[in-house]
Amino acid sequence: MASIAGKVFALTGAASGIGLNTCCQLARLKARAVSIGDVNPNLFEDAKKTLLDINPDLQVLTAKVDVSSSEEVNAWIQDTVNTFGALDGAVNCAGVINQGSTSEQTPPLFLNETDETWNRVVGINLNGVLYCMRAEVKAMMDLPKAPRSIVNVASAASLFHDPTILSYCVTKAAVVSLTTTVSKELESLGIRLNAVSPSATKTGMSLQWYKNEEEAVADMAKRGITLLQPERVSDTIVWLLGQESDGISGVNIPIGASAP
Ligand SMILES: NC(=O)c1ccc[n+]([C@@H]2O[C@H](COP(=O)([O-])OP(=O)(O)OC[C@H]3O[C@@H](n4cnc5c(N)ncnc54)[C@H](O)[C@@H]3O)[C@@H](O)[C@H]2O)c1
Repeated sequence: MASIAGKVFALTGAASGIGLNTCCQLARLKARAVSIGDVNPNLFEDAKKTLLDINPDLQVLTAKVDVSSSEEVNAWIQDTVNTFGALDGAVNCAGVINQGSTSEQTPPLFLNETDETWNRVVGINLNGVLYCMRAEVKAMMDLPKAPRSIVNVASAASLFHDPTILSYCVTKAAVVSLTTTVSKELESLGIRLNAVSPSATKTGMSLQWYKNEEEAVADMAKRGITLLQPERVSDTIVWLLGQESDGISGVNIPIGASAP
């Protein structure tokens, strides 16, 4: 992955979990800079320390950004380009999940979706990805033409139907459609656009339902799910960011084992 060295990347939701893990891989591969846009600034100091422990030369910009606000996203990407004078790649990773129902409730479960929970998940998982892609592509078009890559983080939930997490499944399927549809128009600009669809991964998002990691692993094993290490996901994201995956655009790569 020599092509990552010296490059500049912007990543949303990268103050923790899969996004932070991706920054760690970029730090190891001697990227020049990462710009982290995340809604939770309490995580910034630890994230920065983790990255500088790996690579003291890495330049790290952190910004409080709510991806459901196009104004905040635009300002963050502009600030990233103004600071580093480049934007070689981006990862749109910020996402949330809402369990709107439980399987014990009487169907049809979609009747339990409220305007508030539905709009929140759509605003972050779908609108947020569109706002980020739009700001990133505009910024890339204003820079000298060069090979660039954007990765959207969807989910295995884009591929299955679970009415208890309806808004999550619907938004992740839509992210895949957004990716594959838009990718064709970016080819002539030298920008590749792909999605990844990880199955359950060991981060705050999947562990939030459980007392501890052991309980999560045991419960998922009962349901035939193996909890992925975040490195498996970030390896794939970083490969898509680098020139080693040149020629690959408009695909959605499933990572790990899905629910049976
Ligand atoms: N963990 C899993 O099992 C799993 C599986 C498939 C896909 N994913 C996807 O991976 C992505 C990363 O999730 P994760 O597992 O690392 O979880 P995580 O909760 O550790 O990370 C999510 C990050 O997004 C940030 N975020 C939340 N809302 C935001 C907003 N409005 N604007 C900006 N940042 C925001 C959070 O502060 C957090 O740092 C998500 O899109 C998620 O849907 C996760």
